[in-house]
Amino acid sequence: MKITEKFKNHQKKWARISKHWENFTEPSRPSRGDIANYNFLLRAALKNRKNPDILLLGSTPEIRDVLFRFSMTHGAKVICADMTREMFDAMSALTDFKNAQEKFVSANWVDMRFDKKFDVIIGDFVNGNIGDRHKHAYFSNLESLLKEDGSFITRDCVFIDECKIGSVKQAFKSFLDQARDEEYSMKKAANMAANTLIWASRSLNDEKKASLSYFWPELEKFGKKLDPARSEDDILLKMMCQRMMKAWAPYKSKYWTFNTFEENKRMLEEYFIIKKTLFADDYGKIITKASPMYLLGKK
Ligand SMILES: C[S@@+](CC[C@H](N)C(=O)[O-])C[C@H]1O[C@@H](n2cnc3c(N)ncnc32)[C@H](O)[C@@H]1O
Repeated sequence: MKITEKFKNHQKKWARISKHWENFTEPSRPSRGDIANYNFLLRAALKNRKNPDILLLGSTPEIRDVLFRFSMTHGAKVICADMTREMFDAMSALTDFKNAQEKFVSANWVDMRFDKKFDVIIGDFVNGNIGDRHKHAYFSNLESLLKEDGSFITRDCVFIDECKIGSVKQAFKSFLDQARDEEYSMKKAANMAANTLIWASRSLNDEKKASLSYFWPELEKFGKKLDPARSEDDILLKMMCQRMMKAWAPYKSKYWTFNTFEENKRMLEEYFIIKKTLFADDYGKIITKASPMYLLGKK
C-alpha cells in the first residue's frame, strides 16, 4: 500500500523515534494497568470467536504480546499496520513473544484497504496522531474495516483542566517525592514530567496541539539553573531533567492533537457506540484520568 507524500515527514520522525523507544515508560507506553485493561476489553470483544482477524494500528510491543495470547487461545490472526517499517522492526525486538500468526503491512491508516474485515481493530494513543483535517477519513475508514459485530479498542490522550501547569519547574517537582523514595524509577519520573508538559502544552495554543516544543526553551533554562552543589533536591531534579531531555529530544518537534474529554467522546460517538470506558491506575491521578481506554462498537 502506498504512503502519500504528505505523510512522509511523519514517517521520517517516527523512524528516528523508533531507535529510542526503550527510553520511554508509561504513559507513552501502555502501563501494567493499561495492559490488563486491553486484555479485559479484548476478551469482551472476542468472547469465544474462533480465528478472529485483528488489525493492530502501529507496532506497540505490549499490545502484540497480549495479542500473542489470543493467537494461542483463539487462533487470532494479527496484522500490524504501520507506515514506518523501521518502527515495526525496532518494536519487534521489544516483544516477549514471536507470533507466527502476526504479519506486517506498510499502510496509512487514513486510506488503507484490505480484502477482509476485522473482528477487532486496536491501537494505543493512535487517534491523537491524526490531525483534524484527516480525522473524518480516518474514522470512516476504520469503521468500514470492521465486521458488523466488530470492535475498535483504543486508549486516547484527552485534555482535562487539571493538566494545566504553571512552569517546567512545577512539572518536575510534582514527581520529586516519587523519585526520591524510588516509588518511581528515575526513568519513569522523567517520563511523567515529560508527559505532564506535553498535556499542559495543549492549553498554550488555540489549535488543540500538544507538543514539547512549547516548553523546550524553558526546559533548557531550567536544566542549566539546577545546581547539584546546592541540595539533594537539585541533584535529583538535574538527573530527572537530563534523563528526560535525552529521551525526548527526538520527540521535541512532534505535535499531537488533543481533544477535551467531552469533545473526544462526541467525536468517537459520530462513528461508533462507546460500550465501555476504562482507566489505568498506575501513572498518577491526573494523566490516568486524561488517558481513557474505550471499547467501541459499530453504530
Ligand atoms: C501507535 S503510535 C503511538 C505511539 C505513541 N504512544 C504516541 O503517543 O504517539 C506510533 C506509530 O504510529 C505510526 N503511525 C502514525 N500515524 C500513522 C498513520 N497515519 N498511518 C500509519 N501509521 C501511522 C507511526 O509510524 C508509529 O510507528
